[in-house]
Amino acid sequence: DFFNFSFLPKYGTAFVRGIEYTLLLAVVSVLLAILPALGLALMRLSRKKPVRWLSGAYIAVFRSTPMLVQLSIIYYGLFYAISLPRLTLFGFVDISRFIPGVVALALNSSAYVAEIFRAGILAVDKGQAEAARSLGLSQWQSMRLVVLPQAVKNVLPALANEMVTMVKESSICSVLGMAEMMFAAKTIAGSTGISLAPYTLAALVYFCINYPASKGIEAIERRMRRGDKQ
Ligand code: ARG
Repeated sequence: DFFNFSFLPKYGTAFVRGIEYTLLLAVVSVLLAILPALGLALMRLSRKKPVRWLSGAYIAVFRSTPMLVQLSIIYYGLFYAISLPRLTLFGFVDISRFIPGVVALALNSSAYVAEIFRAGILAVDKGQAEAARSLGLSQWQSMRLVVLPQAVKNVLPALANEMVTMVKESSICSVLGMAEMMFAAKTIAGSTGISLAPYTLAALVYFCINYPASKGIEAIERRMRRGDKQ
């Protein structure tokens, strides 16, 4: 039944490992996505059409194909050739799977984060850039010293939401045998014959991570809006 958690004494540690792996995947992939995403967003706002097009194409490809497909292509295609060592980090992170997994998640995430950044940059009042330019700053200086610092603030809640998304989406890595939470649930179900409860436990844990995080982000957003009005 749904809550037959009798597997926990024996498999509890494996499950906790899975939770740690999931959090690691989500945090590292969003952090890795930030710089490429900023580059993509700036390219998207460039005056040069080919530059805009290139970034637009990247974003379109990664947002219009399933992450499962992207993950498979990167895992089998790219990293098969390089054949990463079977090195294990912290006792549970198998490099040969973690690196392709985190790269695929980060590439995917960067497409979404690029759009977040673009919106965040466009949300900064045009007068800010105009004032910076009229003071003699170059276009790039005005972007870097005046517009971007203000955009960062607009963008933080959306970035945190992206992290919540990646906590859930990282479960797709289970299909490649990455030992994150979904894989732990699947393995436990297989070896105990308890076919339902490991998944309801996984659902509970995902919920207990993401729901409070989302509520926290909402609260911070509300407070930021209040700050803006003053
Ligand atoms: N699950 C969807 C897919 O397979 C959405 C991916 C969402 N990614 C993100 N970084 N927000 O494409």
